[in-house]
Amino acid sequence: MKTPGQGLTREEILHEMGFAPLWRLRTPLAANPPGAAGQPALAAPGEVTADTSSSGEAAPGAAEAGRAARIAHMDWPELQASVAACRACQLCSERRQAVLGVGDVHADWLFVGEAPGAEEDARGEPFVGPAGKLLDAMLAAIDLRRGDDVYIANAVKCRPPRNRTPEAGEMAACAPYLQRQIALIQPRLIVLLGRAAAQALLGEIGPLGSLRGRSLSFSPPDGSARPIPLVVTYHPAYLLRTLPDKAKAWEDLCRARALMRTLQ
Ligand code: URA
Repeated sequence: MKTPGQGLTREEILHEMGFAPLWRLRTPLAANPPGAAGQPALAAPGEVTADTSSSGEAAPGAAEAGRAARIAHMDWPELQASVAACRACQLCSERRQAVLGVGDVHADWLFVGEAPGAEEDARGEPFVGPAGKLLDAMLAAIDLRRGDDVYIANAVKCRPPRNRTPEAGEMAACAPYLQRQIALIQPRLIVLLGRAAAQALLGEIGPLGSLRGRSLSFSPPDGSARPIPLVVTYHPAYLLRTLPDKAKAWEDLCRARALMRTLQ
């Protein structure tokens, strides 16, 4: 079988995603940049919508603050080792291995999902199961490829038992890792796949759909870097169950691609 992005035509990629031949851009993207009439503008510095306090539900205790501070200074090998040995929450007891992320550590694009599933837990790489196949097709639809200017991570690095939704405490325990990945990669744009990813960087959110198309950004908690624009869309596993919303995800991806063009 051909792999998306490796020899597939655009029509085949869109077909793989369940869109073809319907989803064509109606307006040239370059003619309608963010900030143009009817389009949301990027949040200006100081107008940042990400609530980074979400990384700790309550005020973190001294131990948590110390741990977060140590993680905030790690390089990639240290981060990899720390995640692999992490016992900060109960998920460590049932994982086969922690899954840090995969891809280009200097990528412009960062995609964030929820947590590893069974296949990811077994193989140590995010999005390698059915949802990953769809994610690869989504990437290919906007001319991206896993590992090529793209990094893929999860909000939570260990598989929750029976693939349940990660709990708030588990998300909080993993938040410093995702934040450090963001600081090391310094992506131009972050695409948040689903609710857990959105909560990880935006804090408590309303319906996921209400965040789509909005102008959002993430400011690193230490204020060291400029806010990074965020695009929120549906999780590929949800899209596999809810085919009509694939069209909305396609809109989000097109918006992300247009936004990226304005950032380069
Ligand atoms: N779902 C996710 O959110 N992440 C993975 O790595 C796999 C499935």
